[in-house]
Amino acid sequence: MKLFIDTANIEQIRDMNDLGVICGVTTNPTLIAREGRDFQEVIREITSIVDGPISGEVKATTTKAEDMIKEGREIAAIHPNMVVKIPMTKEGLKAVKVLTAEGIKTNVTLIFTPNQALLAARAGATYVSPFLARLNNIDTPGIDLIENIVTIFRNYDIKTEIIAASIQSPIHVTQCALAGADICTIPYNILCQMIDHPLTDIGIELFRRDYVAVFGE
Ligand code: E4P
Repeated sequence: MKLFIDTANIEQIRDMNDLGVICGVTTNPTLIAREGRDFQEVIREITSIVDGPISGEVKATTTKAEDMIKEGREIAAIHPNMVVKIPMTKEGLKAVKVLTAEGIKTNVTLIFTPNQALLAARAGATYVSPFLARLNNIDTPGIDLIENIVTIFRNYDIKTEIIAASIQSPIHVTQCALAGADICTIPYNILCQMIDHPLTDIGIELFRRDYVAVFGE
């Protein structure tokens, strides 16, 4: 499973890119708004850091297919690595069909059922983003959604890649990897939590003490 970072924060992206663990970035209107900066400026900066797929979403106020298509072309023109993120609506599917025919990569977001993922894939989406934790938070196992999409895409050899999204804990990442998601997009704080383990810290301290007892500092 490939790992993307789910943020529009430049410092966080730079930090994780330096570790070599991420190979793509996803953003959304909430994440862009959190930075309080111009969309194009932030996205351009991200493309200069990470050499991999960068998802930039059409405006949260855009609902018509023709407007999504126009914005999608502008987003794609920013950099060859750009992926146009489009919400899972009827108008969104129309836009995906047109953009796909033009060779523009798309990521259909806000997927909450296997049927939505199937429709997005058939419209030509390069990626689908099923949201795991938002389902967990309404007492519905989000991992079932990921597993079902993986099964359906495998049954029919569908090439659309699954980006497991809405990740709120390291255990979600493990679950997605076991379920066979192609990619997991992870917030910075969760990537940091994945690095650490108390037994690793204790082990480092024990090695240090044993070493110093014989060889000194
Ligand atoms: C997906 O690409 C979204 O940006 C993101 O994963 C949503 O996560 P949230 O449910 O924590 O907002």
